[in-house]
Amino acid sequence: MILNGQLPASITQAAQALQRGDLLGLPTETVYGLAADAGNDAAVGKIFQAKGRPSNHPLIVHVASAQGAKRFAGEIPEFAQKLMTAFWPGPLTLILPRQADQAAVAAGGQNSIGLRCPSHPVAQAVLREAETLGVMGVAAPSANLFGRVSPTTAAHVAFEFGEGLLIVDGGACEVGIESAIVDCTRGFPVLLRPGVLTLDALSQACDAQVRTQEALQTPAPKASGTLDAHYAPSAKVQLLDSQTLALRLMPSRVSPLGKIGLWARATTLQTIDVPAQVLLQTMPDDPKLCAHALFAQLRMFDQQGVTDIWVEQPPNAPEWAGVLDRLTRAAAS
Ligand code: TXA
Ligand code: MG
Repeated sequence: MILNGQLPASITQAAQALQRGDLLGLPTETVYGLAADAGNDAAVGKIFQAKGRPSNHPLIVHVASAQGAKRFAGEIPEFAQKLMTAFWPGPLTLILPRQADQAAVAAGGQNSIGLRCPSHPVAQAVLREAETLGVMGVAAPSANLFGRVSPTTAAHVAFEFGEGLLIVDGGACEVGIESAIVDCTRGFPVLLRPGVLTLDALSQACDAQVRTQEALQTPAPKASGTLDAHYAPSAKVQLLDSQTLALRLMPSRVSPLGKIGLWARATTLQTIDVPAQVLLQTMPDDPKLCAHALFAQLRMFDQQGVTDIWVEQPPNAPEWAGVLDRLTRAAAS
């Protein structure tokens, strides 16, 4: 059932569902989450089961405020505190040492925990009301089946899990890709998953150089968002530069292929004579608008039954890192 997130009664219904130990489709500014009370092991178990996610892949625990994070985190290093101050509530997850007696199942048995304070007003309202009912943190991975495209509307969540799931409709997610994840357990900040916040913005906010996992020689902690193949639609995704796109779309070459979904920038499309069998969509030039549209676009192509999705390679610039990461993983499967 989909509830209207604008209504106070929906917020109450959602908070009560969490308190009962039920699953809930929860809007956040990044993507929709499949939420459950982080303190209720049976409820958290339902998340892993519904998603088909291995139970040792840790979930993010959502809190209403930075204050609320203290219950779950052990020592919070100064650089992590600065990141919280700068970006919470917002699209940033911090991996922190976990309080031994808190949310062990949600954390997939790790001695660390991923914490995030979302800014979406509906998420905030649900988290605050749930807190008054004794739900101090809400575990929520993206509300999609394991390995599939993250949902950015209530309808996407219903498509993944059916109408039997209680879902709060908070509109289309503004950010559109998952939060940036910064590991704060190694004595210095490490970006595990890029989001819309750039490495520079993160580094500046915490007065430390945030390193990327790739730049380090040490292995990343276990994290399903860091699997190579992830965020995959049913159609085969390929990332192609504008010249390759133009070559591939020459009429004589397209016909033997199936139905193609093409997501390319306006400037590129001007130079190509796109054949009729190609379903054409314009890729925004702005990285934030592109992130906002990305997952809905992949789902739309799937719904249209395309066999192949060709996406123009986005610029190799810092503000495109989040979009590039998701597209690369979508293309890897
Ligand atoms: O924007 C988001 O972060 C969304 C919304 C719903 O908040 N959530 C989300 O959750 O993307 P999920 O489960 O799809 O991705 C969480 C990522 C996974 O890669 C997970 O392994 C990693 O965070 N993670 C969570 N806790 C961790 C921990 N203790 N150590 C390392 N990685 C962790
Ligand atoms: Mg996910």
